[in-house]
Amino acid sequence: MTIVSRPSSVQSLIGGSIELPVHACGHGPAIQSAPWAAEPGTAGIVAVVGAGKMGLPLAAQFADHDWHVIAVDVQQAVVDAINEGRSHVTEEPGLAELVATAHAGGRLRATTDGAAAAREADVVVLIVPVMLDDEQQPDYRSMDSAVAAIAPGLHKGSLVIFETTLPVGDTRDRFTPRLEEASGLSAERDFFVAFSPERLYSGAALRNLATYPKLVGGIGPASTDRAAAFYDCVLDTEVVAMSNSEAAEFSKLADTTYRDVNIALANEFARYAERVNVDIHEVIAAANSQPYSHIHQPGLGVGGHCIPVYPHFLLSRAPELELVELARRTNDGQVGAVIRSIESEIGGLAGVPVLVLGLTYRHGVHELAYSRALPLIERLAHQGALVSAWDPLLLPDEIARLGATSWTWGETAPFRVIVTQTADPLFGGLDPTWFPELEVLFDGRDSLRDLALPAAVAYRGIGVPPRPRAVTAAGPGPGSGPGSG
Ligand SMILES: NC(=O)c1ccc[n+]([C@@H]2O[C@H](COP(=O)([O-])OP(=O)(O)OC[C@H]3O[C@@H](n4cnc5c(N)ncnc54)[C@H](O)[C@@H]3O)[C@@H](O)[C@H]2O)c1
Repeated sequence: MTIVSRPSSVQSLIGGSIELPVHACGHGPAIQSAPWAAEPGTAGIVAVVGAGKMGLPLAAQFADHDWHVIAVDVQQAVVDAINEGRSHVTEEPGLAELVATAHAGGRLRATTDGAAAAREADVVVLIVPVMLDDEQQPDYRSMDSAVAAIAPGLHKGSLVIFETTLPVGDTRDRFTPRLEEASGLSAERDFFVAFSPERLYSGAALRNLATYPKLVGGIGPASTDRAAAFYDCVLDTEVVAMSNSEAAEFSKLADTTYRDVNIALANEFARYAERVNVDIHEVIAAANSQPYSHIHQPGLGVGGHCIPVYPHFLLSRAPELELVELARRTNDGQVGAVIRSIESEIGGLAGVPVLVLGLTYRHGVHELAYSRALPLIERLAHQGALVSAWDPLLLPDEIARLGATSWTWGETAPFRVIVTQTADPLFGGLDPTWFPELEVLFDGRDSLRDLALPAAVAYRGIGVPPRPRAVTAAGPGPGSGPGSG
């Protein structure tokens, strides 16, 4: 077996910043091989288990490199859509076309039967979610059942790759024994097991597949080689073979936790900047002009599937990582800090109509996982505010389920406070005349500082000097107005 290793063309700058080149596809038409023998330029059959926001782009990418792809999902609607040549993931540019082409070319189909797919496949890629339970421990239910489903279908030569982010050691210690037991085969001798972190950015997954180096670590050298050979056939980026599955698992947790800790530091700096009346964004931009400095941006906290979750994967095995734990608390504390800032401006929130703009964890992605909008709405309501909300991606009943009344874009309403939780560019089109009672605009993601506000409206942000509202003898002042507590 030959593994083609592409030399890295990544430019490493001092301090870790990298410029990622976009790799054009250098593959010619692949030679179909059955069973697949891990030779360069060949294609076999791959099962992708979990055909969601990450799994479907992967399936489409593999099919686009001449592999026959069987998407496996527990949701019948997902399976039906794929079998009709439709992408149910709507926010991924280019995905619908790739899915339609792969399906029409007979290279993409879907099933709910994991064992049958694994029986047919040379490679099984697992990309079902592992999130957190109520105790902040990894919630393995989806992955355990996906592993149990495929294991009986494994055969000699099967390659199983975990792409879902996992705590360090899980590929080898939690899942490999289950695969061996259910298949009656021996890992690293009869079949292969590897971990390869999925590092794509939702909404840019296909583009990232052509840029991000693919990290691979097996439970032994044969597994590493086999997995690297697979990615060399289906991806155009460089493939980085790591020492083992633990190193590959840790790399994803290190990357995401670094960002959480970095953001926590930015949030701490922002609090101090407020105290000394300095704009933290000016400070960070200036500091980052030194190539060793990579300070991230402060904000209303950290949401989404990844960054707020994976530090807990580390902490579940290494509670001694104090900095990691403190960073989580700092970032989670941002919602409370914002509420205190608003209260200091208007005197109290009891009975105050408040509009929250942007509810998904990030603008443009229809995903509420760990969105800071959820505790924001809860805390505002707890303080007695009358909370309304709007998000261009959510329907009124979705907003109602989050505990807020749905506002309609452009509707005149008596909100005294507006808080933005995402940096949706649409918010730049807010017209203050829609809100005749408005007293405070809280810019939670530093995206609205150029919005022209009437003198009676205060502008507040995170780590920026407040722009107070003009208070006249007759006009509003802190604590005035109906319902002030
Ligand atoms: N979403 C992101 O931005 C992102 C980025 C990088 C990495 N990831 C990784 O990808 C994983 C999956 O994320 P996603 O965004 O694709 O999730 P998703 O919720 O969009 O999709 C998961 C899919 O798995 C299916 N599924 C659940 N249990 C299953 C089972 N037992 N068998 C078969 N299918 C099953 C679901 O029906 C769903 O279609 C995450 O846990 C994370 O490790 C996600």
